Amino acid sequence: MTGEEGRVELRLTVDGAERTASIDPRSLLLDALRDELGAIAPKAGCRTGDCGACTVRVDGAIAKSCLRLAVADDGCEVRTTASMAVGGELTPLQQAFWDTNAFQCGFCLSGMLFAAEDLLERTPSPSETEVREAISGNLCRCTGYDAIVAAVLSCAAPPVRSSRGA
Ligand code: FES
Ligand code: FES
Repeated sequence: MTGEEGRVELRLTVDGAERTASIDPRSLLLDALRDELGAIAPKAGCRTGDCGACTVRVDGAIAKSCLRLAVADDGCEVRTTASMAVGGELTPLQQAFWDTNAFQCGFCLSGMLFAAEDLLERTPSPSETEVREAISGNLCRCTGYDAIVAAVLSCAAPPVRSSRGA
């Protein structure tokens, strides 16, 4: 980072592309992404860490971008839901959200999709309780959550059967 008129240079890899921006050192990651780098998939909702609409993945970890100073993530790899679909092909999880009408306005999608993706990476065959717990940091005003839970469960891998007899 280099200082210039009180601003600092931010270097991020955003959805696979190396990006730089001159930012106010007090900028939140959410604002740097949306206002300086044009990455608008994460939404500015509550800005207090409660709704999850601003969720991204920073070096693979789920993060609410309204709770982070951008400079603290200098040099990191940031993924937004904009890069989930590759070549216009929805991921199975995105397709499941579409098929089950798991979103209406879409404002909550960044948080819901990344929470679900993270859960399925860690726990390929989650229970309904585990799904509800995983998405609990995200608020949805539209769906009542049941369709979201159904979408995530439809992507669960079949449980592994024990090779030993009962
Ligand atoms: S805008 Fe970040 S959690 Fe709501
Ligand atoms: S679809 Fe509107 S907030 Fe979730």
